[in-house]
Amino acid sequence: MMNGKKVLFSGMQATGNLTLGNYLGALKNWVTLNEEYECFYSVVDMHSITVRQDPATLRKRARKLLTIYIAAGLDPEKNCIYYQSHVSGHAELMWILNCFTYMGELNRMTQFKDKAAKHADNINAGLFTYPVLMAADILLYQTDVVPVGIDQMQHLEITRDIAERFNNLYGDVFTIPEAYVGKVGAKIMSLQDPTKKMSKSDENPNASIYLMDDADTVARKCRRAVTDSEGVILYRDEQPGVKNLLSIYCACTGKQPEDAVREFDGQGYGALKDAVAETVNAVLQPLQAEVARIEQDKAWLDSIIKNNAEKAQYFANKTLRKVQKKVGFPERPR
Ligand code: TRP
Repeated sequence: MMNGKKVLFSGMQATGNLTLGNYLGALKNWVTLNEEYECFYSVVDMHSITVRQDPATLRKRARKLLTIYIAAGLDPEKNCIYYQSHVSGHAELMWILNCFTYMGELNRMTQFKDKAAKHADNINAGLFTYPVLMAADILLYQTDVVPVGIDQMQHLEITRDIAERFNNLYGDVFTIPEAYVGKVGAKIMSLQDPTKKMSKSDENPNASIYLMDDADTVARKCRRAVTDSEGVILYRDEQPGVKNLLSIYCACTGKQPEDAVREFDGQGYGALKDAVAETVNAVLQPLQAEVARIEQDKAWLDSIIKNNAEKAQYFANKTLRKVQKKVGFPERPR
């Protein structure tokens, strides 16, 4: 508990550009969570360097990501939105947790196996211990809940295992985190392969709508979206492409699928695609305007970044000092 609320922590990588799927499926739904939870949203730049990055690009993308979070409605006075690399406690706790994590456990991580296969020329130790840094992120703030996708579930499990192992040795030091199961957002699929989730790491740029896409690009991508040869607009699994377009339409307008189906009754796929593009643009244009506005106000954004890093550091240090004491590090003279 923190300030009388449970703690929610989420980390996000600034690699790749955020998609409409990230927004409709996650971000948009987080705006009101701070009423119930003390929320931490960390741009995990330390995780990003486990694969090679161009420094200038990483810095730019990380700032953009942070800006998008704020533009999407996460009030930075009420949500702690900060860079992981600005809070030294993450690395410090990670070292300690490394000593309570087994090689065998890390060897079982499927994401490590996937990434090692993908970056065979750079299988570095950071890639291997990536889940331990993630455990440090979460445990540092005595997190109760973590909104994670299925791909990160294994990392949350190992976080719980490490925390329980530590608690068994030293008493109740860490809160054991759970997956956040709240209101789930819309599941948006790839426009080119509607059986796959829309992903910011998809190599085909036509598969995803990026939050920063301009109106013409959105219209073009919608028009090129893969559908089928049924020729009817119904919301059903047999027509994954059409279903996805309807899902996007509904998530953007707040309409129910039945109502959307009725609305498009007798119309062709072209009309549906145009309508989807229009509603997507009605969501993205104000968001992009807000991003631009925030970017202009450099001094304000810098002050937010500084204040939130200090706030995060304050809570991180509380946990860190406790942990350091437990493992036998000498107390710091005041
Ligand atoms: N590994 C997560 C991802 O790629 C990002 C992340 C880092 C994270 N630390 C976290 C997510 C802590 C949740 C909690 O999506």
